[in-house]
Amino acid sequence: MAKVYLDHNGTTPLDPELKLKIPDFLDLWGNPSSIHWAGRETKSRIQKIRHQIAESFGISPLEIIFNSGGSEGNNTVIKSVFQILGHERPHFLVSSVEHPSVMKSYEAIKALGAHVEKIPVSRSGQIDFEFIQSRLSEKTAMVSVMLANNETGSIYPIKALADLAHSKGALFHCDAVQGFGKIPFQLKDLGVDYATFSAHKFYALKGTGFLYVKKGSPYVNLVHGGGQERHRRGGTENILGILSLGFMAEKLSEVSLQFDRIEKLRNYFEARILSEIPDVVVNSAQGLRLPNTSSLILQDVDGETLLMSLDLKGFAVSTGAACSSGNPEPSPVLLALGLSREEAQSSLRVSLGWQTSQAEVDLFIETLKSVVIRLRSLKEDSKVIR
Ligand SMILES: Cc1ncc(COP(=O)(O)O)c(C=O)c1O
Repeated sequence: MAKVYLDHNGTTPLDPELKLKIPDFLDLWGNPSSIHWAGRETKSRIQKIRHQIAESFGISPLEIIFNSGGSEGNNTVIKSVFQILGHERPHFLVSSVEHPSVMKSYEAIKALGAHVEKIPVSRSGQIDFEFIQSRLSEKTAMVSVMLANNETGSIYPIKALADLAHSKGALFHCDAVQGFGKIPFQLKDLGVDYATFSAHKFYALKGTGFLYVKKGSPYVNLVHGGGQERHRRGGTENILGILSLGFMAEKLSEVSLQFDRIEKLRNYFEARILSEIPDVVVNSAQGLRLPNTSSLILQDVDGETLLMSLDLKGFAVSTGAACSSGNPEPSPVLLALGLSREEAQSSLRVSLGWQTSQAEVDLFIETLKSVVIRLRSLKEDSKVIR
């Protein structure tokens, strides 16, 4: 049975060239905090990668803090800002379609007294600017809106949102995890104060990422310890992870050559699905979207059953966020878009990677068609029997 992976927003496979490099990376084992040759060798490689990432995003190397990835970055920013500014500015605004690492960090500071308001989004995924305008005040500490949504692929107008937050003296935090390696952008152009990144969404190793903290922005450690990362994140660095991230950051321009091809493939997939399977809706198709993501509602099909049937045939897809799989509750992101529980439970997320082929997509379309027909007819039969 062919195995086809179409869940690249959940995580990505290791880049094949990176996989070949990993044995060499293991030779770099010195503790970067040690001042002897073994430590210095590692430290200088990490610094090189820091400079290279900073250059590709148009920022200063001092603004990068290596950490364990997106969840840690989001927790650090939200808890930091609350701890430092919470008394003076207890109000926070967060989009209603954020990843759980953002939502749950906000729940945590809410329990400590923060006043957190969710920014509504329209059915087509547009952020409600007027709501933000009406709620922003000198009591607002920070606004959080992600660069791109992991479920629908919607891309948000970060520069305009950050300018709006700054006009009232509020900070701006952007979860850029899903944008990294999927769309071209420069952090300096986004105008944000904080941005979070994860290596495993970009063909590198899991458990690694980095946090961008604009020079002068309020910051306290989430992890206290040694003096690593200029005293901003304790703990011996994940050297292998950082080297893998550096390797992929170097390949960023090579991967970005694939953006157009992936977008065409995604559009081809959606066009065929819409014409060959009745009663299908593509979520948030009207606005700007990640080139690789397709979020579908397949009426009268249970998403979990569909996912399991496709899995049995070798296809890896998702019904929503990977972290919510095994959870029978419909996706909070789709509910926030205004979908009914039933619609949200009939969802399927397909996310292509830079190595996904046309043949894989064709095979998937044929399988999806037959599985959907079977599940719909089973549902009809069960209605008749009842
Ligand atoms: C938008 C978004 N933010 C944050 C995360 C969490 O990143 P990590 O797995 O590195 O903690 C994810 C991963 O699913 C994500 O999609």
